[in-house]
Order: sequence, then structure tokens, then C-alpha cells
Amino acid sequence: MSANINLPRILRVGAGASAELAATLAELGFSRPFVVTDPFLVQQGFCERVTAPLDAAGIVWRLFGDCVPDPTTGSVTAALEQLQRGDHDCLVALGGGSSLDTAKAVAVLAQHGGAMADYKVPAQVHSGLPVIAIPTTAGTGSEVTRAAVITDTASNEKMLCMGLGLVPVAALVDFELTLSMPHRLTADTGIDSLCHALEAYVSRKANPFTDSVALTAMRSIYRNIRIACAEPDNRAAREAMMLAATQGGIAFANASVTLIHGMSRPVGAHFHVPHGLSNAMLLPEVTAWSVSGAPQRYAHCARVMGLAETADTDALALDKLVAGLRQLNADLAVPGPREYGIDQALWHSSLELMAQQALDSGSPANNPLVPEAADIVALYERVWAA
Ligand SMILES: NC(=O)c1ccc[n+]([C@@H]2O[C@H](COP(=O)([O-])OP(=O)(O)OC[C@H]3O[C@@H](n4cnc5c(N)ncnc54)[C@H](O)[C@@H]3O)[C@@H](O)[C@H]2O)c1
Ligand SMILES: [Fe+2]
Repeated sequence: MSANINLPRILRVGAGASAELAATLAELGFSRPFVVTDPFLVQQGFCERVTAPLDAAGIVWRLFGDCVPDPTTGSVTAALEQLQRGDHDCLVALGGGSSLDTAKAVAVLAQHGGAMADYKVPAQVHSGLPVIAIPTTAGTGSEVTRAAVITDTASNEKMLCMGLGLVPVAALVDFELTLSMPHRLTADTGIDSLCHALEAYVSRKANPFTDSVALTAMRSIYRNIRIACAEPDNRAAREAMMLAATQGGIAFANASVTLIHGMSRPVGAHFHVPHGLSNAMLLPEVTAWSVSGAPQRYAHCARVMGLAETADTDALALDKLVAGLRQLNADLAVPGPREYGIDQALWHSSLELMAQQALDSGSPANNPLVPEAADIVALYERVWAA
């Protein structure tokens, strides 16, 4: 059986890559960019860092600087209206996954009209205006994926939209943009990347291409995440984390995510937990439940991350994997749902709906052990009690 791999046409990776925007636009034949980012990144000068070279090159651009975390249909509509006031041939998405996904959604609606709900899975997005993605977190991998996650303002559902039309045409992956990330953001976005790599490797849709990038990403993230959190200026750790985030994105975009992401989206939507943090809350318990579905693969992950020895039996490696992930959460001060401030009664009364929304996203069906709704409810309960 063959594997289908989708990637951006241009990947510029390394220090200073984001300063190459004007050259990238020229290479692609675009000249009228619409820049999409969030207020913090405008205020902190990130936007100017990217647009100053455009000014110097005589490229006229316009800005939407009001992206919100976990983008909503409301914020996407505001960005679309702003884009339609000008004449643009591409979008430049600067920021974390929220800004990148906002730009992707706007790119689709600008070309095809309709509402974002029309494009949620199982619908497929085939095309949209071209997006050049410049990530500032390491990260969601959205710069290379064919996914966008938009919350429906009316129903609070985190809608997963997928398709070739959501793959950015170019990604400028510059770790120097991540040196300013505070501890919590570094930890949460780093664990998001680790989940992408781990889930892609154990996914039922894994293939030899995605396996190689997933394992490389996993090894690198596990070795560097604590360093990047403790020493924000450590360029080597930041560079490793950024590259691994993009590799994790390549892996999951072409092998899919599984149960952790499936269960994480409803937690984010119902309780406003940042995406990486809700993944982190779920990672150890969901892994403990899932290992029996692919023991050799999970044991290999433990060895690759340095949690288990080559000589360990698979059973011992699996124990060490789960213990190692619990320890990682403790070291990175990941709060459980209770510590995060979620109301216990509300958590428990939401579980049936959250389990159904997790299943509806399709991601749990890729898990090595495929859950039923009752299994997911039990897992949410275990995560609360952990
Ligand atoms: N499309 C995909 O493939 C995909 C994959 C995973 C997650 N996501 C989505 O991505 C979103 C989460 O993205 P995220 O975790 O990157 O965070 P984010 O984009 O929501 O940003 C979080 C905060 O960090 C700030 N920030 C960003 N870069 C910074 C930097 N370098 N220094 C300091 N602060 C910075 C932002 O201004 C914002 O306030 C969620 O909506 C999630 O659903 C998408
Ligand atoms: Fe993610």
C-alpha cells in the first residue's frame, strides 16, 4: 500500500528564515500580501520584524492583527471582512497555531465563501488563497499541516477542518522567533509537538515516511524540552524544538493524530484550556490505556526518547514510558483539570458530550486501541483523578 504525503512547496528552516519573506513572495510570484497575526505579536514588534523587509522591498501589505487564541468563527469573519476591503493575492500567517489557523480559514472562505462549518470533517478543503506561514511557537506544526481548528462561536464546538487546500504554500521556520516564549507556553507547545510525533508513530495510518520524522522529532523534543523551559535563551535547544515541531507537524499531517488529540479538542472548547496544555493533561493516562494496542511501537518510543534501555523487555519499556511521561508533566508543572480550576460537577456532567465530540472528530479511530464512548468517559474520569 502506498502512503500519500503532502508538504508545502517551500520550507525555509533556520535562524533568520523569517527575514526571507520578500524573497519567498518573489519566488512564488505574489506581491499583495495580507498579514494575519495577533495583538501581542504586533505589540512586541514581531509583526514589524517581518513587515519591515517588505516595506524595504516596496511590497504593499495590509494587516489583520486581532487573532484570538483558539480562533473562533467570529474572529475569522472579522479577518475575512478586513481582507475583502483590499486586493490580495496571498496571506502571510505570523504567530502560533491560532494565527496560522485563522489565516488558513480566511484563505478558504475568501475563495469559496460559505461558513466554516461547511468545511469541517468529513468535508475536504481542496483549495484556498495561498498562505505563507511563519510560526512563532514550537509548536502546533500548522505551518506544514492540512488542518485548521476553528471553534464555532455558536455551539462551542472545536471544528476540525482538513484538506490539501489548507497546506501552506510556504513555511518560514525560524527558531529565533521562539526565544521570547515564556516557560508555560514553551512547555505546552512543546508537549503538543511531542503528542503529534507520538500519536503519528502509533497511528493506524503511520507509514515509513512519517515514522522516520516522528521518531526524530520525539527524540529531539524529549531531550530538549526541559532545557528550553529552564534556559529560554538556549539557542541550541530552541532550534532543536522548532525543527522537531515542524517534523511533528509533517508526521501527524500525513499519519493523523489519535486519541489524545481527539479527547483534547473538547477539553479546550468546553473549559478554555490552551491546546498544548489539554494534550499534556491527557498524555500519560491515554498512553497508559493505549499501549496494549501497539506494545512494540510504544516500547520503541520509550527507547528512542531514552526512557528505556535497549535491553529492557517491551513490558518494562512500557512501564517506563508511562512513568516517564508522568514525570515530564510533573517537571513541567502541568496542572490537572482540578488544579487548572475546572469545576468538578461541570467536568463530570460534560463527559458524555465530550466523548461523543471526540469520536465525531474521527481521530480516536486511528488509535492503536480503538475506544468506545464509555472508554473515553472512563479516561476523562481517570485524568480528573490522576
Ligand atoms: N492546524 C493544525 O495543524 C493545528 C495543530 C495543533 C494545534 N492547532 C491549533 O493551534 C492553536 C494553538 O496554537 P499555539 O499553541 O501555537 O498558541 P497560540 O497561537 O494560541 O498562542 C498562544 C499565546 O502565545 C503568544 N505567543 C505566540 N508566539 C509567541 C512568542 N514567540 N513569544 C511569546 N508569546 C508568543 C500569542 O500571542 C498568544 O497570546 C489551537 O487553536 C489549536 O487548536 C492547530
Ligand atoms: Fe496539536
